[in-house]
Amino acid sequence: MINKRLIREMKGSLAFIYKNVLMQWIMLILNIIMMMLIAMTLEGLLRNVLVMNQMMLYLTGVIVIVALRFMLSKKSVMYGYDASKEVKKILREKILTKLNEIGSGYHQRIATSTLVQMCVEGIDQLEIYYGSYLSQFMYSILAPLTLFAVLAFVNFKVALILFICVPLIPITIILVSKLAKRLLSKYWGQYTTLGDSFLENLEGLTTLKIYQADGYKHEKMNEEAEKFRKVTMKVLTMQLNSITIMDLIAYGGAGIGMMVALFEYQSGAVSIAECILIILLSADFFIPMRTLGSLFHVAMNGIAASDRLFCFLDEEVEEDGTISDIKADQSIYLDHVSFAYEKDQNVLNDIVMEIKPHQMTSIVGESGCGKSTISSLLMKEMKIDHGRILVGDEDMAHFSRKAWMKKITYLSSNALLFKGTVRENLLMAKKDAGDDEMIDVLKKVKIYDFLEGEQGLDTPILENGSNLSGGQCQRIAFARALLHDSEIYIFDEATSNIDVESENDLMKLVEEMKDEKTILLISHRLMNVVKSDQIYVMEKSRIVEKGTHEELLGQEGTYKNLWESQKKLEALKGRSL
Ligand SMILES: Nc1ncnc2c1ncn2[C@@H]1O[C@H](COP(=O)(O)OP(=O)(O)O)[C@@H](O)[C@H]1O
Ligand SMILES: [Mg+2]
Repeated sequence: MINKRLIREMKGSLAFIYKNVLMQWIMLILNIIMMMLIAMTLEGLLRNVLVMNQMMLYLTGVIVIVALRFMLSKKSVMYGYDASKEVKKILREKILTKLNEIGSGYHQRIATSTLVQMCVEGIDQLEIYYGSYLSQFMYSILAPLTLFAVLAFVNFKVALILFICVPLIPITIILVSKLAKRLLSKYWGQYTTLGDSFLENLEGLTTLKIYQADGYKHEKMNEEAEKFRKVTMKVLTMQLNSITIMDLIAYGGAGIGMMVALFEYQSGAVSIAECILIILLSADFFIPMRTLGSLFHVAMNGIAASDRLFCFLDEEVEEDGTISDIKADQSIYLDHVSFAYEKDQNVLNDIVMEIKPHQMTSIVGESGCGKSTISSLLMKEMKIDHGRILVGDEDMAHFSRKAWMKKITYLSSNALLFKGTVRENLLMAKKDAGDDEMIDVLKKVKIYDFLEGEQGLDTPILENGSNLSGGQCQRIAFARALLHDSEIYIFDEATSNIDVESENDLMKLVEEMKDEKTILLISHRLMNVVKSDQIYVMEKSRIVEKGTHEELLGQEGTYKNLWESQKKLEALKGRSL
């Protein structure tokens, strides 16, 4: 019923929760006094012994108490709000910190949509847990004890009967919780599955339309939505049923208390006023537990969400190294590196490679042979299974990711531009870059002429750069990479999928960079790698050849074949133009 971890993590909220309980407890005491006043008034009226002055006094007392209770209840809501506000902030911060630690490889551990659902709705669900449930939990133990202490003076027998009936409610809750836990975990599972496919279909809607596959996906999603509906209904039914049982216990218990009070009155054991007081207060024994019961379901939902959240927060992050002064102007060696995404299916097999400083090293090979996986390993996105990567004689595993990211820049074919301005996108790479510096890199990638005609550095960029052409986007992304000014650059098909003119411009820049920078160029187009100092040819997860362009042509192997077939293709394209 209480999740220890949720409490341990959020000690800061406890003070607000205690204050909330205190407010509720004072309200209960006031309520008891008010009921006493009412009972005395009723007794006076029934016996016809009430004088006007007395009645006015009682009435004033009731009015003051109602006003006080109103103020206290506002305070109690405020404390509840404070308790949950802090929690939501802390949890969201924790998720972001974790994401930062995991870095760009996060999507291999968790789907983006799951993350969004967890951050937004999952955490919102916890609002009830901290804002109401925990305080209600404490209050619902305190209230029956207090009432028992008071009513025991009036009539011990009735007080005892009422007090004994109360625990029946938490027993029901515990029984239901055993069932609820499994069901709620299933509920969250279905919910995130639906979220995953919804996001994917939305992002790929254009593709789905082109292939007219939207109808099929629509049906698939309907199926998932139906599954989600069914499990939601199951959850609701379970909640409603358990609430009905709790109602039966609560009102049944109060009824028994009232009946016993009447019998006691008949036998003369209690006075009218005492009998009325018992009748008025007997429901109060059960109401707090009953409220806890209905909050319990929402709180359980929050706990189920938090299970996922903590699972994510507990994900192991590769131990950050301590070395921060990395000498990046040394050779990078891939020393018999092997890697598999899925067990026993090596995507890289015994890769031996040297990326020399101030040279251009290239990797070529058909798609799927493992080129991008090498760049991911160099970017420390994943752990190497076998072998190691050395920078000089230092194992890269010892570098902190943060320090390493200062030394290396990665540019792929689908570099992301963020919604904002050109300036904002560039400043990402170098926070303190001046306008001149930014204009300089934009000129290098030959996009500044165009931007000048717009609003210069303040030219707006829409989400994913949708107001620019592919070539323009890639030029700006390239400018951003240049501004980062690191020692090592990895270009992974950085000039694929754009117009020939942009490709040629950017390729020329890459070639110019090699005097000052260490460059790893990954390309399936051999024309781009001709000027490389060293070319590695990959085939099915292995390196099969290496050498300069001329040396490789002399080897009459994979590279030569690829070169010939690409040359034919380009000639064909040229003729058809
Ligand atoms: N995140 C991933 N999870 C599982 N398999 C992957 C993942 N990324 C790539 N692969 C697989 O690894 C192999 C190599 O992929 P990749 O390095 O991207 O090739 P390339 O860049 O040469 O086209 C492919 O067979 C691909 O299916
Ligand atoms: Mg690739």
